[in-house]
Amino acid sequence: MLRRLHPEQPASFAFTPANLAWAEAQITKYPEGRQASAIIPLLWRAQEQEGWLTRPAIEYVADMLGLAHIRALEVATFYFMFQLQPVGSVAHLQICGTLSCMICGAEDLIAVCREKIAPKAHQISADGKFSWEEVECLGACANAPMAQIGKDYYEDLTAARLAEIIDEMAAGRVPTPGPQNGRYAAEPLGGPTSLTDHVAGRDALNASARRAVDLGDTIKRIDGSEVPLLAPWGRQSGGDVALAPPAPALEKPRAVPARARKPAPLPAQKALADKSAASAAVAEAAPEQLAAPRGGVGDDLKKISGVGPKLEALLNEMGFWHFDQIAAWGAAEIAWVDARLKFKGRIERDDWIAQAAALASAR
Ligand code: FES
Repeated sequence: MLRRLHPEQPASFAFTPANLAWAEAQITKYPEGRQASAIIPLLWRAQEQEGWLTRPAIEYVADMLGLAHIRALEVATFYFMFQLQPVGSVAHLQICGTLSCMICGAEDLIAVCREKIAPKAHQISADGKFSWEEVECLGACANAPMAQIGKDYYEDLTAARLAEIIDEMAAGRVPTPGPQNGRYAAEPLGGPTSLTDHVAGRDALNASARRAVDLGDTIKRIDGSEVPLLAPWGRQSGGDVALAPPAPALEKPRAVPARARKPAPLPAQKALADKSAASAAVAEAAPEQLAAPRGGVGDDLKKISGVGPKLEALLNEMGFWHFDQIAAWGAAEIAWVDARLKFKGRIERDDWIAQAAALASAR
C-alpha cells in the first residue's frame, strides 16, 4: 500500500508544553549521540496530540532529534500505526480483518463502518467525527471480532453493538471497553471450566478493561491537559513513582525552531544542561580517589546500569574503582564527578548511588 503524506497540511506543529516535557524526558533515555532512537515515541506522541501525523509534526520531531527530515519521513511512512491523513475528531476505528475476526463477523463490522462513517477506509464521516480502517490481527483473536478504538479494545463485537458504540461516542460518551457480550475475558462462552474460584469476588471488569477505564485515555487526545507520564527513572528513594505536578493549562504552543537558524541545543541536552546548572549551585567536593584498585582488582563498575566500558574507563582514570567509593558520594561529590563527566546528569538519572550501594552490600 502506498503511504504518502496528505496533500493538505497545516502550517506548523508544536508539542504542548506538557507533551514537550514528556518528549524531552524520553530523549534522555538514550546515550549521547543516540537520541534518534527516541523517534518512534516522539512521533507517536505527536500523533496522540493531533490524531494524525502531519508533515510539520514529522519535521518538528526530526528537528528535536537532530535528524534530517527524510529520516523521520522514512519512519513515519513505513509504520502503519502512523496515520498520515486526518482522522475523525472523536475517534478513528481500527477493525481487525484477519482470520479469526473475519470468520467471526469482521465483514459485518466493516459494513457498519461503511454505513455509519464513510464508504471507504480513511474517509472522514460527514460530521467530521469518525474515520475507520481495516487492520491486521490485533492479537485479541480469542475475542473475535474486535476493534481498536482510540487506545482501547472492544471485543466480542456484533454489528449492532458496534453501531451502538459509534452512537454513544458521537453523543460524547465512552462505552466500557473489553468484551461486549458479557464475557469476563477470554473464557469459554458458557463460563470458565478451570480456575473457577477466581470468579468469586473478582472485579466486574477484567484487568485490561479495568486499567483502560481507570486510565481514561481511551479516545481523547493527549493534549497536555493530563498529568504527564513520567520517564521510568522518575522515582523517589522509596521506590514510589513520583507523580509530576498537574500539567499547566494549555499555553500557546512553542514555535518549532527553524532549521535555517543557528541550531538550538537539543531539548534533551538543554534539560540536562539546566540540571547541571542547578547542580552547579551545589558546592563541589572531590570524593575519595584511589591511585589504584584495592588489592589490585577493581569492581566491575559496568554492573551499574548506565555505566558502559567507556564510562568505566573514565571512572577508573578519575580514581574510582569500587562500588563502595561511589556509594559514599553525597551531593557535593556527585556535583564534582558530574562536572567531569562528558554526559552530565547521568549519576542522578540512573541512580548510581543506590545501585552502587546495593552492589557493594551484595559482595
Ligand atoms: S484475528 Fe482479529 S485480533 Fe487476531
